[in-house]
Amino acid sequence: MDPSRLVEFYREKLGERSLIVVSNREPYQHIYDEGEISWICPPSGLTVGLDPIMRATGGTWIAHGNGSADRAVVDQESCVAVPPDRPAYRLKRVWLSKKLEANYYYGFANAALWPLCHVAYVRPTFQHHCWDAYVEANSLFADAVQEVAGDEPALVFIQDYHLALLPRMVKERCPRATVVQFWHIPWPNSEVFRIFPWRQQLIHGMLGNDLLGFHIRYHCNNFVDTVMEVLEAKEDRERSAVIYQDRATFVRPFPISVDFEDIAQGSSRPTDDKSLLRLVNNIKSRGQTLGIGVDRLDYTKGIRERLEAIDRLFDCYPELKGKFVYLQIGVPTRTHLPEYKLLSEQIGEIVESINWKHQEEAWLPIVYRKSYHSPETLQWLYRQADLCLVTSLHDGMNLVAKEYVAAQVESKGALILSAFTGAARELPQAFIVNPYAVEEVVNAIHQALILPKEDLRRRMEALRETVRDHNVFHWARKIIDHVSRIEKHSFSPVTPLL
Ligand code: F6P
Repeated sequence: MDPSRLVEFYREKLGERSLIVVSNREPYQHIYDEGEISWICPPSGLTVGLDPIMRATGGTWIAHGNGSADRAVVDQESCVAVPPDRPAYRLKRVWLSKKLEANYYYGFANAALWPLCHVAYVRPTFQHHCWDAYVEANSLFADAVQEVAGDEPALVFIQDYHLALLPRMVKERCPRATVVQFWHIPWPNSEVFRIFPWRQQLIHGMLGNDLLGFHIRYHCNNFVDTVMEVLEAKEDRERSAVIYQDRATFVRPFPISVDFEDIAQGSSRPTDDKSLLRLVNNIKSRGQTLGIGVDRLDYTKGIRERLEAIDRLFDCYPELKGKFVYLQIGVPTRTHLPEYKLLSEQIGEIVESINWKHQEEAWLPIVYRKSYHSPETLQWLYRQADLCLVTSLHDGMNLVAKEYVAAQVESKGALILSAFTGAARELPQAFIVNPYAVEEVVNAIHQALILPKEDLRRRMEALRETVRDHNVFHWARKIIDHVSRIEKHSFSPVTPLL
């Protein structure tokens, strides 16, 4: 499936109706850079996945505008054409006050729902004023959807856990709209979810959806179990649906992916990041092996545990000193939350102590770059790297794993992948590890370093075939197909949708 076939498919199935994507995170952020306005693509699996689809189909993307120059570039309806360098769709920005952002985004979405859903042993904080802010922010997004959709039968495609109440709000305000939501993070089992104080309201909101997608079947099952426990609803197993107040919400797995061809092509363009280019060239010219990790500085990504594994690797295999360099890219994120601030400080300290312990002459085991890197630079880096470590403690999908595979045009590299990512279910030819078991990660890295090139190539080719065949356009196609089938069958509620 490619972008133009996706557009044809959309028109064939859904006609001329407009597509409205809604998420908290915006795909393009305008910022002041030394007094000039420039723009960046924020680091987010969600925007990496959705942007190529919107570039193909066009439409409106509604998101929180929080770049320093975001207001300076929009029109009277708070809209701006994006991508800024080759406009293809409209971005409508929703403005949230600092206080609302602090309580809705930081205090609720990322301090309550994020740790609750990831079960990453960071205790969720539940504060009533943050819940109130969450309700208020969701209703501001509903205003924006209503402005764009009006009475039209639009397809409103809501993203993620920031907007769980929005589906019902949209259904009530725009009854002709078809409402679909994709949940980009895990859904925990119902036992874990029991502690959530506003579970009835949240689930009630989510059952405003016509279709609700998760990355994997396991999260769908967890969600349906939670619904059964929390509300008076009925499960329709035949159709993978939940019937609540005489309406069906279909609950299906749709594993998200990346724009394989675009990344493969982008990976061959040299980066304009001069210092990174110099660093990688130096590593290569010395015949050293390059391992990388690319993450937002988030406690769910397992960066501390991974660094511990790198430390143990040099303890167990001192012959690798001078021969292997690990480059960690860490992008600061959610820095106003204490857990994130602490993590960000700790990573720097851990890197320093490992480097102090193992360094030999000019060789340092770990290079740490704590800053934003453009998608183009990352694509180039993925191609250069002999090894990529994705060791999330828990992750809905993890698109770094798929981006790495897409950029490995020569099929030389190895992917070390946490068993607790959605990606691990589709990519069994990676070196699958339990990120909590340090020795297991050490062994996997070592195995990847000593495996014959031919074996590595065979594994990577199989991974590439999977990501090529199941790219992000294929993901969108499956969702569009389900939407059209749901609409066709809406008058015969017992017909199976297989
Ligand atoms: O992919 C999961 C996700 O939480 C997205 O929802 C989000 O856009 C991304 O990670 C980055 O987080 P944030 O938007 O808080 O920077």
